[in-house]
Amino acid sequence: MKVTLSIQRFNPERDKKPYRKEYEIDVPETFRILDCLDKVKWDIDGELAYRRSCSHGICGSDAMMLNGKNMLACQVLVKDFKKKYIKIDPIPSLPIIKDLVVNMDSFFKKYDVVKPYLIAKDQPPVKERLQSQEERALIDEAVNCILCGACSASCPSLWSNDSYLGPAALLKAYRFIFDSRDDAADERLNIIDTTDGLWRCHTIFNCVEVCPKDINITWHLSQLKKKCALREL
Ligand code: SF4
Ligand code: FES
Repeated sequence: MKVTLSIQRFNPERDKKPYRKEYEIDVPETFRILDCLDKVKWDIDGELAYRRSCSHGICGSDAMMLNGKNMLACQVLVKDFKKKYIKIDPIPSLPIIKDLVVNMDSFFKKYDVVKPYLIAKDQPPVKERLQSQEERALIDEAVNCILCGACSASCPSLWSNDSYLGPAALLKAYRFIFDSRDDAADERLNIIDTTDGLWRCHTIFNCVEVCPKDINITWHLSQLKKKCALREL
């Protein structure tokens, strides 16, 4: 099957601004977009830069914009696209390092802000910290986040205000605030209960549309809003 990839290219050492380059390739319809990029890089243009690691939707490194929607290149097949002319761009709102590779420093700084690790007051038990099935169910979806950044890069609230923590960091806050084994819920609620934190989310749902792990991020943020509104200060 013939497919044309229109890829945004940019080499800051050479180019004043990004431009598009087209590549026509012949591939099986079961090829993933990541396989197509590999084919371009290995057979046609070795300079093409993009991130990838696991190739199986686990590492979150190959989020990019395909025909205007943020997706993982390793999770979508050529046959999933009606037209075989596919536009490929880096995920928006982050500085481009080269071609499809963006600088995710600001994304991970915001992730760090919410203390994305277990904080427990008591000493670790001999075996694991137990929780009931009901307690675990509260974080079942949130633990599936692979930090691909597709959600934050698709959020208009973040496009218009770079200080906003963004959906991925807030989802991580949920993951620990609602974890029965964690003792730092109040500490994290103080961090996110701000105008540039949780309350900058205007329930636009773009994040939910693009999450490759089908996490209903907006629902999780609404639970955080309820928790903030009901807590005693
Ligand atoms: S919530 Fe979904 S879209 Fe956002 S970083 Fe996690 S896996 Fe990616
Ligand atoms: S390469 Fe790891 S998620 Fe796609």
